[in-house]
Amino acid sequence: VFASIVQAPEDPILGVTVAYNKDQSPVKLNLGVGAYRTEEGKPLVLNVVRKAEQMLVNDESRVKEYLPITGVADFNKLSAKLIFGADSPAIQENRVTTVQCLSGTGSLRVGGEFLAKHYHEKTIYIPLPTWGNHPKVFTLAGLSVKTYRYYDPNTRGLDFSGLLEDLQNAPSGAIVLLHACAHNPTGVDPTSDQWEQIRQLIRSKSLLPFFDSAYQGFASGSLDADAAPVRMFVADGGECLAAQSYAKNMGLYGERVGALSIVCKGADVASKVESQLKLVIRPMYSNPPIHGASIVAAILKDGHMYTEWTVELKAMADRIISMRHQLFEALQAKGTPGDWSHIIKQIGMFTFTGLNSDQVAFMTKEFHIYMTSDGRISMAGLSSRTIPHLANAIHAAVTK
Ligand code: LMR
Repeated sequence: VFASIVQAPEDPILGVTVAYNKDQSPVKLNLGVGAYRTEEGKPLVLNVVRKAEQMLVNDESRVKEYLPITGVADFNKLSAKLIFGADSPAIQENRVTTVQCLSGTGSLRVGGEFLAKHYHEKTIYIPLPTWGNHPKVFTLAGLSVKTYRYYDPNTRGLDFSGLLEDLQNAPSGAIVLLHACAHNPTGVDPTSDQWEQIRQLIRSKSLLPFFDSAYQGFASGSLDADAAPVRMFVADGGECLAAQSYAKNMGLYGERVGALSIVCKGADVASKVESQLKLVIRPMYSNPPIHGASIVAAILKDGHMYTEWTVELKAMADRIISMRHQLFEALQAKGTPGDWSHIIKQIGMFTFTGLNSDQVAFMTKEFHIYMTSDGRISMAGLSSRTIPHLANAIHAAVTK
């Protein structure tokens, strides 16, 4: 009965790792998926995460019962504080509902399904380009996906006038997906003045902002600074949604820890919204897993561990910034044609190199360097040892 099923293509991002794993070359380099690597090219488990896990293992009162549908209560409260700020009026007024979800993707999907069922406008505007999974997540959630201009390939910066024009022309009430910081894949973020203009436009047209916050702490190295755009929208008293992921900033990729928060106008509304979120979650996966969220809660609630985390997070962010400088300098030293200053101007985990899909294919074939076909490279996958190899490959690709 399944004989007529056609072979599906690999995922554009995770499929890069599948191809990389098959390559036998000793010089192969995976710059596809956004996953942090040490200077030695190894995955990193943060010390503070190991410490929290040890505490959890030693605590014999811990059991393996089902969590409530909404997850670990402490984790939800602490996650809301992390993104909205401890003194957020929305938290103080109990206008926020937060539910634990399966990392950023799960949070977006639960938020998307909730909106498809309960919100009057079913169109979501996503930036062009955006993370490859966004259109699929929201389409399957039951929303209709449209794009707004975001990136200008000529300036390798923000297409701010295009963005404003497209949001201005969106139907009143439409949902707008915004990357809270460190836009994926471009590494290009609005300035705070531009954010303020975006906020004014969104509010004046009654659009509904839905933030995807997957890199809090990775853009600037400061958790508060990276949450500033979200807090700007919450401060005006209006509604918004926020999907948080702890994959990158706590290195908890495979633990699938995230949260969806919905900021409402009043506490009574927030409580009704939460009751409906439970109806979205229960038939989807019943209730979320305990372990990862318990790690996060243990770290966020302990002052010492929290500080230790911020130091380790800053070290990851700083190593990525150093990779940007080293790659830029290596290309300058080789005299590689073109202006490569965007490598140091862009922020977060990725550089949107401007290399086209043919050049990417050439670098994979000739240099065993794996990256997404849109020319995005994960700076977190580089080290001082591998930068010369990447610089050689880029040089060869643009001069061939
Ligand atoms: C990425 O963009 O590489 C990450 O967000 C990982 C993923 O799931 O795609």
